[in-house]
Amino acid sequence: MKAAVVGTGYVGLVTGVVLARLGHQVTCIDKDPEKVAKLAGGIPTIHEEGLGPMLSACIDEGRLTFTTAYDEGCPQADVVFIAVGTPEDSEGKANLTFVRAAAESIGDVISGRTVVVTKSTVPPGTNRKVKQWVADKAPAGTDIAVVSNPEFLRQGSAVYDTFHADRLIIGAEDIRAGDLVEKLFAPLEVPVLRTDLESAELIKYASNTFLAMKISFINEMAQIADRIGADVTKVAKGMGMDRRISPDFLKAGIGYGGSCFPKDTKALTRIAEEAGYEFTYGKATDHVNDQQKNLLVEKALFRFGSLKDMNITLLGLSFKPGTDDMREAPSLSIIESLMEEGANVTVYDPVAAEKAAPLLPETVVTANDLKESLDGSDSVFLVTEWDEFKQMDLSMIASLCSQNILFDERNVFTEEDVKSAGIEYHSVGRRSVYPEEVVKTAAYYDKVQGL
Ligand code: UDX
Repeated sequence: MKAAVVGTGYVGLVTGVVLARLGHQVTCIDKDPEKVAKLAGGIPTIHEEGLGPMLSACIDEGRLTFTTAYDEGCPQADVVFIAVGTPEDSEGKANLTFVRAAAESIGDVISGRTVVVTKSTVPPGTNRKVKQWVADKAPAGTDIAVVSNPEFLRQGSAVYDTFHADRLIIGAEDIRAGDLVEKLFAPLEVPVLRTDLESAELIKYASNTFLAMKISFINEMAQIADRIGADVTKVAKGMGMDRRISPDFLKAGIGYGGSCFPKDTKALTRIAEEAGYEFTYGKATDHVNDQQKNLLVEKALFRFGSLKDMNITLLGLSFKPGTDDMREAPSLSIIESLMEEGANVTVYDPVAAEKAAPLLPETVVTANDLKESLDGSDSVFLVTEWDEFKQMDLSMIASLCSQNILFDERNVFTEEDVKSAGIEYHSVGRRSVYPEEVVKTAAYYDKVQGL
C-alpha cells in the first residue's frame, strides 16, 4: 500500500520508517527543509535505538522518501497520517495549530477518496474537525474519511515499541477506512481494538494520565516512606506482585518528564473542565509531580544547611535514558533550584549535552566525560539513570569529590553498593546511608517528623 506521513518528529518518523519496513511505499512530509534533507540522506534527526540502519535500508530499497511538498505524497496515498506536534498552550490545552495546518495542506492537494489518520494526541472531537478542515480545502465532492489511531510508543524504545505494541487502537465511523488502517498494520500482528472516534481519542489521554498517576502515586508513597523510615522500592515490589496492580511504572524518583505525560495530564484536566467535570486525579497527579522535583534538593539543604558556593555535579540531563529529548526534563528545574541556592553546577550527559546546551543557564559548566564532571566537585546528583552511571565505579566519588556524597534521584544503587564504596548516600523514599567515619546527621525522616 501507499502511505504519506505528515510530520517527522518521534511519532511520524518512526511510523514512516516502520511502515516502509513492513513493505509499504511511504512518503514522509515535513515543512522543515533541513530536516528533510538530513533524513533523505539517511541521517536520523532523533536519537533512537535501531532507527538509523532501518532508515537507510528503507531509503536504499526505494520504499521511503522525504519531501516538503504535500503534492508529492498525499494525492497518491491510500492513507495519509497526521503526526505533527500538539504542544501545550498557555492554558494547558493541546495547541491544534499544526494539526489544522497539516489537514488544510492535505485538503489542498487531494481529490477522490482519501483516508486521513490522526496519530497526533488530540482532544476528543478533533478528528471530526480534521475532516472538516480537510474538506474545506479539498475540491467539492472529495470523499474524506478520518480515523483516530493514537500512538503509544516510548522514546528511547520507539522502534521496539512499534513492532511489539500491546494494542492498536482504531477509532473510525467509516468501517472501510478502519479496515484499511487495520490492513496496513496487519503484518505487525498486534491485538486490535476498534472503537468510535471519541473513545479512541480519549484512550490515549486516559492511558498516559493513568501511567503518570501511577508514578505520582508511588512518589507520594516515597514521601510517606521518608517520614516513617520505610523503603519505597520494597513497597513498590510488594505492590507490584499483585497482578492487578503490576510492577510497571512504580519507580519512585524525580517525577515524570518528556513530551507526553506532563502535557497530556494537563490537557485531560482541561478537556474534563470544558466538559463540565473536575478531574481530581489529573490535578493531583500534576501537583505531586511538581513537588517531587525538589525532594533531593531539600534533602541536600537539610544535609548541608546551605548550598552557597558548593560545587555540585549533575549526572544526566535528558528526561530519561535512551533519548536526547530535553522536553520537560526534571534536570532543568533541579539546576534552577540548585543555582537559586547559590551552588555552582557542572553537568554531564553521555548523549543529551548538545540538545541541552541552549536550555542551560550560561554559568553552568558542561563536562565532556564522567571523570571530568566529578573532579573537584563537592557532591553529586544522579538525575538520569543512563547505563554509564548505573555501572559507574562509586569509589570515583570518594576519590574525586571533596564531600563524598551522592544524591540519587533514581534509586539506582543499593545500600551494599554505597557502603562498599564508602560514600554517603541519599535517595528517594529510602533511608540515607552514612559511612562509618562520618558523624551521623539526623535522618531525613527524623527531620520531617520534627524529631
Ligand atoms: C510515554 C508513554 O509511556 C508512551 O506510551 C506515550 O506514547 C508517550 O509517553 P515516554 O514519555 O517516551 O512515553 O517515556 P516513559 O518511559 O513512559 O517515561 C515517562 C517519564 O516517566 C520519564 O520521565 C520517566 O523517568 C518517568 N518514570 C517512568 C518514572 O519516574 N517512574 C516509572 O516507574 C516510569
